[in-house]
Parts: sequence; C-alpha cells; structure tokens
Amino acid sequence: MLPNARTPHIDRLRSLPKAEVHAHLEGCFEPSVLEQWAAQARVPMPRPRERLLQFEGLADFLHFLDWACGLASTRERLAELSYGFCKRLSDSGAGYADVIVNPTHWTAWHGRLPDMIDAIDAGFAAAEQDGLPSVGLCVSLLRTQSSDAAAELVDSLVALRHPRVVALSIDGNEAAAGRTGPRFADAFRRAGAAGLRRTVHAGESSGPEGVRDAIELLGADRIDHGVRAIEDSALVALLVDRQIPLGICPTSNLTLGVYASIEDHPIDRLRRAGVVVSINTDDPVLLGASLEGEYALCSQAFGWSDDDLRALARNSIDASFANAGVKAELIQALSRW
Ligand code: ADE
Ligand code: ZN
Repeated sequence: MLPNARTPHIDRLRSLPKAEVHAHLEGCFEPSVLEQWAAQARVPMPRPRERLLQFEGLADFLHFLDWACGLASTRERLAELSYGFCKRLSDSGAGYADVIVNPTHWTAWHGRLPDMIDAIDAGFAAAEQDGLPSVGLCVSLLRTQSSDAAAELVDSLVALRHPRVVALSIDGNEAAAGRTGPRFADAFRRAGAAGLRRTVHAGESSGPEGVRDAIELLGADRIDHGVRAIEDSALVALLVDRQIPLGICPTSNLTLGVYASIEDHPIDRLRRAGVVVSINTDDPVLLGASLEGEYALCSQAFGWSDDDLRALARNSIDASFANAGVKAELIQALSRW
C-alpha cells in the first residue's frame, strides 16, 4: 500500500528536520488558481481541466510553465506564490529551502528582473516574519538561451547583489539544447567569482556527459537531478571523490519519464556508492509531490532505516546554500530526531 497523509509513518517523516534544495517556484501553482487567473485574463486553458496536469514529458512540461507563469502578472500574485511555498515547506517539516526561479518563463516580468526579485522577496520575507522557514533564491538560466543572454543575467545579478539571491542556476531541456556546457562556462565562472553559488540541472534530460560538463565546465557546487550519472562508473567515483551533492526528485523523474518505476530509480544505488544524495520535490504542486511523500516513497521502496533517513536529511542540510546559523540549528534539531 502506498503511504498517504494519514499513516503514522508519514507523520514521522514530516517531523524529520530537513532542507529542500531542488524546487522551482514555477512548479507551485494550484490548478484552481491557474484556472481563475486564465478566466480573468481571457487566456485559453492549454487543455481541459481534468487533464491540466497530465504532461507528456519535459518539453511539454516546460511549455506549460510558460503558460502558467505568464498568468502571474502582478506583484501580489508573485508574493502570494512565494509565501505559499514557505507554508508548504513548513507543513512538510523542512526548515530551509533553496528555490529556483527562471525569469524566462515569467513573460509579464521580462525586462524587469529587479522588480520580479523584489516581489518574490516580499513573499518570502512575509513568510519569515510569520515564523515560516527561510528561503534562498537560485536565479536560473534556460539551457536553450544564448551565451549573451547568460552574460546579461549574470551582469544583472552581480549589479543587483540582492541578499535573497544565493546562486546562479541553469535548468530546462538539455535534450533540446544539445551539449551546452561550453556556451555557459563563462557566465558560471563570473557568477562564482562574484560570490554566487552554482547549481546545475544535468543528468535528467542529458546523460552522464551532462553531469561531467556541469562539474568540469560550470563548476557546479550542486547538481539538480544528476541521476543518469549512474550510467558511468568513473563519473560516480568523481562525484564521490569531490562530494558534489545531487538534488534528486524521484516523483518528477517518474512523471516526466526518466524512469519507469521507483524500483528502477538509481537513488539508492547512488547513495550506496557513496554519492551525497538528497530528496526533493522539483515542481511540487504541478507534479503532485510533497517532501515527506518523497521520503516515504523511497523509504518504502528501498527499505531505508531511521539512520539512513537521518543521513539523507543531513545531506539535504549540508548541500543547501543556507547560512551557517540556519544549518547549525537544523543539524541540532536533527540530532534530537
Ligand atoms: N524547470 C522546472 N522543472 C524542471 C525540470 N524537471 N527539468 C528542467 N527544468 C525544469
Ligand atoms: Zn528541477
């Protein structure tokens, strides 16, 4: 039987102190809200409401994000979405998250990056005021962008120096973009030199070569997904040797067709090989994943012990871009679990 919101096991997993290091603000829209916004703006729905969240893979999903984010046209909507993210995080028992936002999807905000970051920050700051978990923002490039667009984003982030922004990220479809490490190397190098952390989607829509490029060309502090590294044992050894963490999202990988079943998913094999893996939701609302549900799914499939769960939660805290104080508090709480 699959775990559900009422089982005692899920309550224990909710109480496990942890962080989330791989979640997109783009993936946090409630379908009923999207429907309402679309009706108000007289924008057609991409498909009937009963099939709204049925995606045919990553390309279809990213296309949907353009439609959904295009409806978030006001400061209030962005702030509410950001606040709602923190509420859900708290309900899942997480004490911190790194949240990815990719400006390319948010058409109403094109050309107004500082205003957009400010609106998102307002939602996160209000949440913190209300005692909800704190959040760092990872501003993302899309794999299909040009090197000039990447340089422009880094210039803007460096000029802005917004305290909410902790990292440069890159996401999107590597299968559509091809091998783009060299195209983005300079942007990532400059971001790193300016004190931003670096997180890179790779090894989801690319194979192991994408993960290797993320390490060698983009200087990734952390890899988002990275699961297809399992296909190259030398790369697995490199991840172990350098202790580069993978932010893994099991339900996302199943829903978007990377693996057919949780039993086929390599998270446990990577973990056993000594790779630093953490458990995350990717696009929680749109893909129907909760953080505690992801822990439950894996712990049932792979028979994880409490010690295993503790180690995974510890990885999530260590891999996060939270400040030292937040990390220390979470580690303290974890030692009491
Ligand atoms: N943007 C949002 N979710 C994503 C994913 N799973 N892969 C690449 N880009 C994304
Ligand atoms: Zn992602």
